[in-house]
Amino acid sequence: MEKKNIDWSNLGFAYMQTDKRYVSNYKDGAWDEGTLTSDANIVLNECACVLQYAQTCFEGLKAYTTEDGHIVTFRPDLNAQRMASSAKRLEMPVFPEDRFVEAVHKVVEANAAYVPPYGSGATLYIRPYMFGSNSVIGVKPAEEYQFRVFTTPVGPYFKGGAKPITIRVCDYDRAAPHGTGHVKAGLNYAMSLYAIVDAHEKGFDENMYLDSATRTKVEETGGANFLFVTKDNTVVTPKSPTILPSITRRSLLYVAEHYLGLKTEEREVYMDEVKDFAECGLCGTAAVISPVGKIVDHDKEICFPSGMEKMGPTIQKLYDTLTGIQMGHIEAPEGWIHKI
Ligand code: PLP
Ligand code: COI
Repeated sequence: MEKKNIDWSNLGFAYMQTDKRYVSNYKDGAWDEGTLTSDANIVLNECACVLQYAQTCFEGLKAYTTEDGHIVTFRPDLNAQRMASSAKRLEMPVFPEDRFVEAVHKVVEANAAYVPPYGSGATLYIRPYMFGSNSVIGVKPAEEYQFRVFTTPVGPYFKGGAKPITIRVCDYDRAAPHGTGHVKAGLNYAMSLYAIVDAHEKGFDENMYLDSATRTKVEETGGANFLFVTKDNTVVTPKSPTILPSITRRSLLYVAEHYLGLKTEEREVYMDEVKDFAECGLCGTAAVISPVGKIVDHDKEICFPSGMEKMGPTIQKLYDTLTGIQMGHIEAPEGWIHKI
């Protein structure tokens, strides 16, 4: 199959329209059979629930070209599961999990020419999403929905790729106790826009959110979970009911224990102890593992011993093992790789 003529190695994390996307509509209590379409635009009524009350959730996963030339996706069943839990929290009908995986499969297959070649450093980002589509003016859930999946080839989420980034402790909150922080609701990202623009204007790459109840514990950033490495090489990650349960993080904890023989801890992480860690990284589908070199907490700076030039040694090993599994040169645990 002939690949598109794209400068794969210089892609950033940006949208590029690809040939096909999947659409299924929900009406009168049922999803239709769904189809692939070339039309990248959506026409909605002015009063569509998603436009007025932000009734929308989404997912993010990637397709990779393996060393031996196959196209694969990584744990799409877990994205299907998480979207089901997001839908329930937002009073939306669940798109059946097996059909979610099938829709992802079809869209990747139809856009195979856009899956970046092995070794290019780029991947095909897959964005499943759904939204309330009929008009609603009183505050209540929609009755009609659309589920869609599109793809776009992407490079690194943070400019500079694997170079350590600088983040700041944010004075705005991301998620309230008992709110929607644990699901992938569009509204969680809308509320982070002001804070990320402000962070970028001040020269920071991302915001570190603390728990909004006490502002003493590390939560996550706008688009990734945290991983820390202690000086005695334990991988620590924050436990909180108000962060998104990252699939990358779950996978990395498994990799740390079963491939690298490291101890792992998922527990509350207090801001006060962050200065004692040896390494810090952000993990997520888009972020993969992006090393953090420095955290600015108002008048204090935490500079990790791993420095501002390269990833720390343990984060590097985690990165190499995870991407090795995704690209097919390290054997994957059963069920992690979905072949297209
Ligand atoms: N946290 C937030 C807020 C995110 O948007 C994401 C991205 O999906 C993640 C964490 C990482 O999750 P995953 O590893 O499943 O992509
Ligand atoms: C992802 O990693 O898939 C996300 O949805 C995060 C977003 C910031 C791009």
